[in-house]
Amino acid sequence: MYRTHTCGALRISDAGTTVTLAGWVQRTRKMGGMTFVDLRDRYGITQLVFNEDTDKELCDQANKLGREYVIQVTGSVNERYNKNGQLATGDIEIIVSALTILNTSSTPPFTIEDKTDGGDDLRMKYRYLDLRRNNVRSNLELRHKMTMEIRRYLDEMNFLEIETPVLIGSTPEGARDFIVPSRMNPGQFYALPQSPQIFKQLLMVSGFDRYFQIVKCFRDEDLRADRQPEFTQIDCEMTFVEQKDIIDLFEGMAKHLFKTIRNVEIKEKFPQMPWIEAMKLYGSDKPDTRFEMQFVELMDVLQGHGFGVFDSAKYIGGICAKGAASYTRKQLDKLTDFVKRPQIGAKGMVYARVNEDGTVKSSVDKFYTQEVLQELKEAMHAEPNDLILILSGDNAMKSRKQLCELRLEMGNQLGLRDKNKFSCLWVVDFPLFEWDEEQQRFMAMHHPFTSPKPEDIALLDSDTGAVRANAYDMIINGVEVGGGSIRIHDSALQNKMFELLGFTPEKAKEQFGFLMNAFQYGAPPHGGLAYGLDRWVSLFAGLDSIRDCIAFPKNNSGRDVMIDAPSFIEKDQLDELCLSLNMPEPKKS
Ligand code: AMO
Repeated sequence: MYRTHTCGALRISDAGTTVTLAGWVQRTRKMGGMTFVDLRDRYGITQLVFNEDTDKELCDQANKLGREYVIQVTGSVNERYNKNGQLATGDIEIIVSALTILNTSSTPPFTIEDKTDGGDDLRMKYRYLDLRRNNVRSNLELRHKMTMEIRRYLDEMNFLEIETPVLIGSTPEGARDFIVPSRMNPGQFYALPQSPQIFKQLLMVSGFDRYFQIVKCFRDEDLRADRQPEFTQIDCEMTFVEQKDIIDLFEGMAKHLFKTIRNVEIKEKFPQMPWIEAMKLYGSDKPDTRFEMQFVELMDVLQGHGFGVFDSAKYIGGICAKGAASYTRKQLDKLTDFVKRPQIGAKGMVYARVNEDGTVKSSVDKFYTQEVLQELKEAMHAEPNDLILILSGDNAMKSRKQLCELRLEMGNQLGLRDKNKFSCLWVVDFPLFEWDEEQQRFMAMHHPFTSPKPEDIALLDSDTGAVRANAYDMIINGVEVGGGSIRIHDSALQNKMFELLGFTPEKAKEQFGFLMNAFQYGAPPHGGLAYGLDRWVSLFAGLDSIRDCIAFPKNNSGRDVMIDAPSFIEKDQLDELCLSLNMPEPKKS
């Protein structure tokens, strides 16, 4: 038997018993004739004690233990003189009587401790060592707990977990596909699913009624802190439901997770905000509603006073940062630089401070009388000591997005984005289509299977851009944790949708013939949603990036630096697949 207990199990009530433990050497400390070793496993750390006076040979052996050696010890549990309140096992120590080295270890490239000296790249290269660290491991433990609770909830709600294929054809969603060549079908390719969207709809046609799957999805898109090329969805679909039914059920799941994982009881219903309102008030379809600072449109107040920038603008909007009038000129200049960064693209920023006495001092005072500035104050609901920040531009949507970045930055600077505070909402009534400037055509905002609101169907031809969808996203703290829609189940409407999206009937048949066929055999009304598991876990763990809750994530260039993938393949393999590369030979490193 390798062990009688784990390294996190022993308590004062075990004092006097003889135990055997196995684990990794976290660190050794020699103090006089005593050597202390912290022995670590997944469950915790237990202090081992070796006494030179009692057994010199054993103590010498202990002194030679290197970091991350794997050892087994037998000894008696002893009440500690210096108790360690930080450790669950901190009341006891093991007086070791036998030591076996099960394996040695090279010196690890970074310290396996909460605050490690290893940089990001190094930790990713040696991810298996990084995963030994408490904080990384606990994220995966949390992930496990969450998936267990999700399965429990969905099982209770009568959902069936059904697997769908990973080698499929291209599905028309937002991102590029990862493609896989087929040896048996030369010149042809599978695509990895961006989501199991079509399969789950087919399962509804098959009568499964309630489906779910915790499933890997693959998207070849630019990476950000909340995006990985392979990520996990909690993918769900239901039959004979309306938007309200889906929202209720998945809001219930969200509340179940808050309760069981974070011990947060949310009684009230999540607010529902139409997409257009989210854009107007927050400049985003995923507003961070932990703090107010809503946009106020200021065209009426600020145009027509001779300030050219505003007079020629198509949009002028402001936010009011409570109590921030003390911002120095330097801080304001930094904010201006922030909004002028190419990623944000504003031309400049105007500010106005509300003084203690209620007067307003702005950066464009020469164009505005105190009277107009007072109107501005009123419009912004500003009070003494508040700071008003204003952006303008010639495209309302663009300016709103810029103001959104500024609002989030101010939220950060003023400490309003507390990771332990949660603010949830549904954004609803999305447009069905969005106009793609590059391709000069409408694209589906969610995907082509999303149904229009019945009352907007009449607008499909006459005012395509104004048609709203039966679609909904759940947003928590400015993160889109999930989204879905009621689907089209009528083949005539689906065909109309393909037509509006610019598919010729032949192309639609080629890509979706099987779906259109299926719809001819009694497709029931259905709808669903997919939550992003990685985003849920990172929210609950308070992480800045979803990478930290994925065991083996990709870096920002989409690489797994540990296994060094993607990689070139042998010419034989290419030949077998009838492929040749149209690029220079890779440099030999
Ligand atoms: P959508 O594309 O909105 O919908 O994806 C659903 C949820 O998946 C998460 N997500 C991601 N997480 C990490 N990295 C990514 N690259 C990534 N992309 C998406 C988000 C998102 O809300 N088939 C539809 C769902 C449906 O209509 O039922 C779909 O995939 O949390």
